[in-house]
Amino acid sequence: MWRSSTGRATLSCDGSGTRGRGQDHPRGPLPHRDLAYFCSKYGPLVYLRLGGVDAITTDDPDIIREILLKQDDIFASRPKTVAAIHLAYGCGDVALAPFGSHWKRMRRICMEHLLSTKRLELFVNHRVNEANHLVRDVWKRIHVSKLVNLREVLGAFSMNNVTRMLLGKQYFGAGSAGPEEAMEFMNITHELFWLLGLIYLGDYLPIWRWIDPFGCEKKMRDVEKRVDEFHRKIIEEHRKVRNDQNGDEKGEMDFVDILLSLPGEDGKEHMDDVEIKALIQDMIAAATDTSAVTNEWAMAEVIKHPRVLRRIQEELDEVVGLHRMVTESDLPHLTYLRCVVRETFRMHPAGPFLIPHESTKPTIINGYHIPEGTRVFINTYALGRNRRVWDNVEEFRPERHLVSVTGSGTRERVEISHGADFKILPFSAGKRKCPGAPLGVAFVLTALARLFHCFDWAPSGEGIDTEEVYGMTMPKAKPLVAVATPRLATNMYYSV
Ligand code: HEM
Repeated sequence: MWRSSTGRATLSCDGSGTRGRGQDHPRGPLPHRDLAYFCSKYGPLVYLRLGGVDAITTDDPDIIREILLKQDDIFASRPKTVAAIHLAYGCGDVALAPFGSHWKRMRRICMEHLLSTKRLELFVNHRVNEANHLVRDVWKRIHVSKLVNLREVLGAFSMNNVTRMLLGKQYFGAGSAGPEEAMEFMNITHELFWLLGLIYLGDYLPIWRWIDPFGCEKKMRDVEKRVDEFHRKIIEEHRKVRNDQNGDEKGEMDFVDILLSLPGEDGKEHMDDVEIKALIQDMIAAATDTSAVTNEWAMAEVIKHPRVLRRIQEELDEVVGLHRMVTESDLPHLTYLRCVVRETFRMHPAGPFLIPHESTKPTIINGYHIPEGTRVFINTYALGRNRRVWDNVEEFRPERHLVSVTGSGTRERVEISHGADFKILPFSAGKRKCPGAPLGVAFVLTALARLFHCFDWAPSGEGIDTEEVYGMTMPKAKPLVAVATPRLATNMYYSV
């Protein structure tokens, strides 16, 4: 284990400018690469002293398994960062809440009322509508210009899917909430995400908060107010509809309707508004960016590798054919596409440091003493490029994930999770693992299957670059723009 005396200046992302996901943004610092370098140079477990805070980082499957599974009870908490306090209602949500009874209750509410198999099945028709809308969106765009901005298309797909389930409305497309509200909504979500991903020096050197030279906390307070206003309106609209219905006719209930109907803590008749707001915000933030960023990376890598595109399309033509659209029931049979998604997660994990964990007791890892309150940066970016684990780490080669053919001649389903070997970690593991993984996988596979089945893709004149920027998620630096050509009969596009 290597000990740094002060951490490194590159770990601070303060002042790197706000992230506008519609446009290019400066690359800024890449702390996941700095910490990957530390592990390759000093060993699989590195200790850092960041101002007043103890921290460790690792890129090693066995150490990750030790932290997330064997010592899960000790490492299942979260640091209370300044951003989390401002932007997650004082850590009153699920994702940023410290381990304890509040976190348990909030997580259970999400699992039971949004993410249970039954609820996911109830929303299948919305997902089909959004998949159809995605195809129509690209079809319409290529009649204006062959160049398609995939960041816009995929961002709208994820946002619509999530807001339909949560808020009961689509934000982009016909019958949507309207372009102004949609843009405001997108912008706030992206600013929120950018601020949450920021490694803010004030978390490590309290004196920094007095100076705040880049106005980070001011930005946090500003976004906090705008987001809160947005959530206030959503709750008000839902209450009004409930009152107007007067209990007579109950339409389909979205997540906000359900939250409004649940009892609160300690015998209260209803949940507090602040709890409802924290949950809405968490779900939107956790579900939209992660799946949109993953889809954009997968499209970029596949368009860059025409051999992979051909193989995906051969599989789709065999499993689905050319005379109907892909459905969710096809997804388990798209073995090669599933390998493409695994390979995308290996090279471009949506959460390069997961969401940082924090220890609640002193413990021993790999023979080293780890004090209570140590911040844990599990570097999934470095894990996917760890040369002790993977060969040819810079090569995008989905075949490496193909599992062997079983005795009966059928291939086993390729799982898009960490598996027993912990060689990739897209959704984490243990108590804090992503509760939305099945839904996230459905969003990703559906969008990719539809786009590769319905269209041929080629790079634009500028080619495809694969540079990333750091954030809570790790998006491509430049939005992906590519040339699309229909590959199904014309009537297929009119029937969706
Ligand atoms: C491709 C899509 C997705 C990816 C790659 C992803 C990945 C992750 C990762 C890496 C974490 C951090 C786990 C940790 O810190 O150990 C996480 C947490 C979380 N995710 Fe996801 N996620 C995705 C989709 C979703 C969806 C669709 C939802 C819900 C609608 C969701 C809800 C959450 C929540 C609530 C947490 C916090 C869990 C906790 O702290 O207890 N995610 N996700």
